[in-house]
Amino acid sequence: MKGQDDALEEYELPFLESVALQVSVLGITLVTRLADLAVLLVRPRLLRAYVSVWVAALLRSPYRLRRSFEVVRALKASGQPLRELIYGETPLVTGLRAFRAAGVGPGSRVVDLLAGRGRALLAARWLGAEARGVELLERHVVSVAEPLRRAGISLVQGDALLEELGDATHVFLAWTALGPETKARVLERLRTCRPGTRILTVTRPVEAEDFPVLGRQRLLFTWGFEGVWLHEYRPEAA
Ligand SMILES: C[S@@+](CC[C@H](N)C(=O)[O-])C[C@H]1O[C@@H](n2cnc3c(N)ncnc32)[C@H](O)[C@@H]1O
Repeated sequence: MKGQDDALEEYELPFLESVALQVSVLGITLVTRLADLAVLLVRPRLLRAYVSVWVAALLRSPYRLRRSFEVVRALKASGQPLRELIYGETPLVTGLRAFRAAGVGPGSRVVDLLAGRGRALLAARWLGAEARGVELLERHVVSVAEPLRRAGISLVQGDALLEELGDATHVFLAWTALGPETKARVLERLRTCRPGTRILTVTRPVEAEDFPVLGRQRLLFTWGFEGVWLHEYRPEAA
Protein backbone atom coordinates (compact mmCIF):
# COMPACT_ATOMS: atom_id res chain seq x y z
CA MET A 1 0.00 0.00 0.00
CA LYS A 2 2.81 2.38 0.90
CA GLY A 3 4.50 1.79 -2.47
CA GLN A 4 1.30 2.68 -4.30
CA ASP A 5 0.92 5.87 -2.27
CA ASP A 6 4.48 6.97 -2.91
CA ALA A 7 3.99 6.31 -6.61
CA LEU A 8 0.98 8.63 -6.48
CA GLU A 9 3.05 11.45 -5.02
CA GLU A 10 5.72 11.07 -7.69
CA TYR A 11 3.38 10.58 -10.64
CA GLU A 12 3.57 13.22 -13.36
CA LEU A 13 1.61 13.40 -16.61
CA PRO A 14 3.44 13.84 -19.93
CA PHE A 15 3.68 17.59 -20.83
CA LEU A 16 0.93 17.74 -23.49
CA GLU A 17 -1.53 15.70 -21.42
CA SER A 18 -0.81 17.93 -18.45
CA VAL A 19 -1.47 21.10 -20.52
CA ALA A 20 -4.73 19.61 -21.93
CA LEU A 21 -5.85 18.69 -18.40
CA GLN A 22 -5.09 22.16 -17.05
CA VAL A 23 -6.99 23.83 -19.92
CA SER A 24 -9.99 21.57 -19.33
CA VAL A 25 -9.96 22.23 -15.56
CA LEU A 26 -9.71 25.98 -16.23
CA GLY A 27 -12.75 25.79 -18.54
CA ILE A 28 -14.74 23.80 -15.95
CA THR A 29 -13.72 26.27 -13.23
CA LEU A 30 -14.86 29.28 -15.28
CA VAL A 31 -18.20 27.76 -16.24
CA THR A 32 -19.06 26.37 -12.81
CA ARG A 33 -17.96 29.45 -10.83
CA LEU A 34 -20.09 31.72 -13.06
CA ALA A 35 -23.07 29.36 -12.81
CA ASP A 36 -22.66 29.06 -9.02
CA LEU A 37 -22.53 32.85 -8.64
CA ALA A 38 -25.64 33.22 -10.79
CA VAL A 39 -27.71 30.87 -8.59
CA LEU A 40 -26.35 32.53 -5.45
CA LEU A 41 -27.99 35.79 -6.54
CA VAL A 42 -31.24 34.08 -5.50
CA ARG A 43 -29.83 33.18 -2.03
CA PRO A 44 -27.42 36.05 -1.17
CA ARG A 45 -27.29 34.82 2.45
CA LEU A 46 -25.07 31.96 1.25
CA LEU A 47 -22.71 34.16 -0.77
CA ARG A 48 -20.30 34.91 2.06
CA ALA A 49 -19.85 31.23 2.97
CA TYR A 50 -19.41 30.33 -0.72
CA VAL A 51 -16.72 33.00 -1.18
CA SER A 52 -14.91 31.77 1.97
CA VAL A 53 -14.77 28.23 0.58
CA TRP A 54 -13.47 29.62 -2.72
CA VAL A 55 -10.86 31.91 -1.12
CA ALA A 56 -9.65 29.04 1.13
CA ALA A 57 -9.02 26.96 -2.00
CA LEU A 58 -7.13 29.86 -3.65
CA LEU A 59 -4.95 30.53 -0.58
CA ARG A 60 -4.19 26.91 0.17
CA SER A 61 -4.75 24.49 -2.66
CA PRO A 62 -6.61 21.41 -1.47
CA TYR A 63 -5.38 19.60 -4.59
CA ARG A 64 -1.72 19.18 -3.56
CA LEU A 65 -1.64 16.69 -0.73
CA ARG A 66 1.57 16.21 1.26
CA ARG A 67 2.34 13.61 3.91
CA SER A 68 2.24 16.21 6.68
CA PHE A 69 2.06 15.20 10.34
CA GLU A 70 -1.69 15.90 10.36
CA VAL A 71 -2.33 13.82 7.22
CA VAL A 72 -0.31 10.84 8.50
CA ARG A 73 -2.07 10.98 11.89
CA ALA A 74 -5.53 11.15 10.26
CA LEU A 75 -4.72 8.23 7.94
CA LYS A 76 -3.37 6.10 10.79
CA ALA A 77 -6.55 6.71 12.77
CA SER A 78 -8.92 5.92 9.89
CA GLY A 79 -6.78 3.12 8.39
CA GLN A 80 -6.92 4.55 4.85
CA PRO A 81 -4.21 5.02 2.20
CA LEU A 82 -3.15 8.54 1.13
CA ARG A 83 -4.72 8.25 -2.32
CA GLU A 84 -8.19 8.15 -0.71
CA LEU A 85 -7.78 11.78 0.34
CA ILE A 86 -7.59 13.07 -3.23
CA TYR A 87 -9.62 16.24 -3.40
CA GLY A 88 -12.27 17.53 -5.79
CA GLU A 89 -15.43 19.57 -5.30
CA THR A 90 -19.08 19.50 -6.23
CA PRO A 91 -20.07 22.80 -7.88
CA LEU A 92 -23.13 24.37 -6.30
CA VAL A 93 -25.14 24.00 -9.51
CA THR A 94 -24.25 20.30 -9.70
CA GLY A 95 -25.27 19.78 -6.08
CA LEU A 96 -28.57 21.52 -6.80
CA ARG A 97 -29.39 19.18 -9.69
CA ALA A 98 -28.40 16.06 -7.78
CA PHE A 99 -30.20 17.01 -4.55
CA ARG A 100 -33.36 18.22 -6.32
CA ALA A 101 -33.63 14.87 -8.11
CA ALA A 102 -33.26 13.18 -4.70
CA GLY A 103 -36.16 15.19 -3.25
CA VAL A 104 -34.08 17.42 -0.95
CA GLY A 105 -35.98 20.43 0.37
CA PRO A 106 -37.13 22.10 3.59
CA GLY A 107 -37.36 19.43 6.30
CA SER A 108 -34.56 17.32 4.78
CA ARG A 109 -31.37 16.61 6.72
CA VAL A 110 -28.45 16.18 4.32
CA VAL A 111 -25.16 14.66 5.52
CA ASP A 112 -22.03 14.86 3.35
CA LEU A 113 -19.82 12.11 4.77
CA LEU A 114 -16.70 13.09 2.77
CA ALA A 115 -17.34 16.80 2.97
CA GLY A 116 -14.06 18.48 1.97
CA ARG A 117 -14.69 22.22 2.41
CA GLY A 118 -18.46 21.89 2.28
CA ARG A 119 -19.20 23.15 -1.24
CA ALA A 120 -21.87 20.48 -1.82
CA LEU A 121 -23.53 21.36 1.49
CA LEU A 122 -24.18 24.87 0.19
CA ALA A 123 -26.49 23.29 -2.39
CA ALA A 124 -28.43 21.45 0.33
CA ARG A 125 -28.80 24.70 2.27
CA TRP A 126 -29.84 26.54 -0.90
CA LEU A 127 -32.74 24.09 -1.13
CA GLY A 128 -33.74 24.83 2.48
CA ALA A 129 -32.40 21.60 4.02
CA GLU A 130 -30.36 21.15 7.20
CA ALA A 131 -26.78 20.49 6.13
CA ARG A 132 -24.03 18.67 8.05
CA GLY A 133 -20.61 17.59 6.82
CA VAL A 134 -17.85 15.36 8.18
CA GLU A 135 -14.29 15.76 6.89
CA LEU A 136 -11.23 13.80 7.98
CA LEU A 137 -8.65 16.57 7.49
CA GLU A 138 -8.81 19.43 9.95
CA ARG A 139 -7.06 21.80 7.55
CA HIS A 140 -10.01 21.60 5.14
CA VAL A 141 -12.41 22.40 7.97
CA VAL A 142 -10.73 25.18 9.99
CA SER A 143 -10.74 27.96 7.40
CA VAL A 144 -14.40 27.58 6.42
CA ALA A 145 -16.30 26.13 9.40
CA GLU A 146 -17.22 29.51 10.88
CA PRO A 147 -18.58 31.17 7.70
CA LEU A 148 -20.46 27.95 6.91
CA ARG A 149 -21.90 27.91 10.43
CA ARG A 150 -23.21 31.46 9.92
CA ALA A 151 -24.95 30.21 6.78
CA GLY A 152 -26.58 27.43 8.84
CA ILE A 153 -24.21 24.63 7.76
CA SER A 154 -22.29 22.44 10.21
CA LEU A 155 -18.88 21.19 9.03
CA VAL A 156 -16.85 19.19 11.54
CA GLN A 157 -13.59 17.30 11.56
CA GLY A 158 -14.25 13.60 12.01
CA ASP A 159 -14.05 10.15 10.49
CA ALA A 160 -16.93 9.16 8.21
CA LEU A 161 -16.20 5.54 9.08
CA LEU A 162 -17.41 6.14 12.65
CA GLU A 163 -20.55 8.17 11.88
CA GLU A 164 -24.06 7.31 13.03
CA LEU A 165 -26.56 8.33 10.38
CA GLY A 166 -29.91 7.78 12.09
CA ASP A 167 -30.91 11.46 11.74
CA ALA A 168 -30.16 11.82 8.00
CA THR A 169 -32.79 11.90 5.27
CA HIS A 170 -30.10 12.10 2.55
CA VAL A 171 -26.45 11.07 2.55
CA PHE A 172 -24.04 12.39 -0.09
CA LEU A 173 -20.89 10.44 -0.94
CA ALA A 174 -18.30 11.83 -3.36
CA TRP A 175 -16.41 8.54 -2.97
CA THR A 176 -14.53 8.55 -6.31
CA ALA A 177 -11.14 8.00 -4.61
CA LEU A 178 -12.16 5.33 -2.12
CA GLY A 179 -10.93 1.76 -2.61
CA PRO A 180 -13.11 -1.35 -2.15
CA GLU A 181 -12.11 -1.91 1.51
CA THR A 182 -13.05 1.60 2.61
CA LYS A 183 -16.24 1.49 0.52
CA ALA A 184 -17.24 -1.68 2.37
CA ARG A 185 -16.69 0.14 5.68
CA VAL A 186 -18.77 3.10 4.45
CA LEU A 187 -21.53 0.66 3.50
CA GLU A 188 -21.69 -0.51 7.11
CA ARG A 189 -22.18 3.12 8.20
CA LEU A 190 -24.96 3.52 5.63
CA ARG A 191 -26.77 0.64 7.37
CA THR A 192 -27.10 2.90 10.45
CA CYS A 193 -29.52 5.04 8.38
CA ARG A 194 -33.27 4.80 8.84
CA PRO A 195 -35.15 2.85 6.15
CA GLY A 196 -36.12 5.20 3.33
CA THR A 197 -32.97 7.34 3.62
CA ARG A 198 -31.71 8.38 0.22
CA ILE A 199 -28.06 7.91 -0.67
CA LEU A 200 -26.30 9.77 -3.48
CA THR A 201 -22.96 8.43 -4.73
CA VAL A 202 -20.53 9.88 -7.26
CA THR A 203 -18.67 7.79 -9.90
CA ARG A 204 -19.88 4.38 -8.67
CA PRO A 205 -23.18 3.15 -7.23
CA VAL A 206 -23.62 1.29 -3.96
CA GLU A 207 -23.49 -2.38 -4.88
CA ALA A 208 -25.84 -3.99 -2.34
CA GLU A 209 -29.40 -5.30 -2.63
CA ASP A 210 -30.63 -3.25 0.31
CA PHE A 211 -29.70 -0.03 -1.56
CA PRO A 212 -31.70 -0.27 -4.81
CA VAL A 213 -30.93 2.37 -7.43
CA LEU A 214 -33.73 4.87 -8.10
CA GLY A 215 -31.98 6.88 -10.78
CA ARG A 216 -28.78 8.08 -12.37
CA GLN A 217 -27.58 11.43 -13.73
CA ARG A 218 -24.40 12.55 -15.46
CA LEU A 219 -23.16 15.76 -13.87
CA LEU A 220 -20.16 18.10 -13.92
CA PHE A 221 -17.63 18.08 -11.06
CA THR A 222 -14.46 20.14 -10.71
CA TRP A 223 -12.49 17.35 -12.41
CA GLY A 224 -14.98 16.45 -15.18
CA PHE A 225 -18.29 14.64 -15.81
CA GLU A 226 -19.27 11.79 -13.50
CA GLY A 227 -22.27 9.54 -12.92
CA VAL A 228 -24.33 10.31 -9.81
CA TRP A 229 -26.50 7.45 -8.49
CA LEU A 230 -29.53 7.85 -6.29
CA HIS A 231 -30.41 4.94 -3.98
CA GLU A 232 -32.87 4.32 -1.19
CA TYR A 233 -32.07 2.26 1.89
CA ARG A 234 -34.51 -0.66 2.02
CA PRO A 235 -33.22 -3.18 4.59
CA GLU A 236 -36.07 -5.56 3.77
CA ALA A 237 -34.77 -5.90 0.18
CA ALA A 238 -31.55 -7.64 1.35
C1 LIG B 1 -13.97 14.44 -3.29
S1 LIG B 1 -13.47 15.26 -1.81
C2 LIG B 1 -14.88 16.06 -1.12
C3 LIG B 1 -15.79 16.83 -1.89
C4 LIG B 1 -16.99 17.38 -1.21
N1 LIG B 1 -17.88 16.32 -0.72
C5 LIG B 1 -17.73 18.16 -2.26
O1 LIG B 1 -18.58 17.50 -2.86
O2 LIG B 1 -17.43 19.32 -2.51
C6 LIG B 1 -13.40 13.86 -0.70
C7 LIG B 1 -13.03 14.25 0.72
O3 LIG B 1 -13.22 13.11 1.56
C8 LIG B 1 -12.32 13.24 2.63
N2 LIG B 1 -12.23 11.94 3.32
C9 LIG B 1 -11.59 10.81 2.95
N3 LIG B 1 -11.76 9.85 3.87
C10 LIG B 1 -12.53 10.35 4.85
C11 LIG B 1 -13.05 9.84 6.09
N4 LIG B 1 -12.76 8.60 6.50
N5 LIG B 1 -13.85 10.65 6.83
C12 LIG B 1 -14.13 11.91 6.44
N6 LIG B 1 -13.64 12.47 5.28
C13 LIG B 1 -12.85 11.70 4.51
C14 LIG B 1 -11.04 13.69 1.94
O4 LIG B 1 -10.13 14.29 2.85
C15 LIG B 1 -11.58 14.68 0.91
O5 LIG B 1 -11.55 16.00 1.42
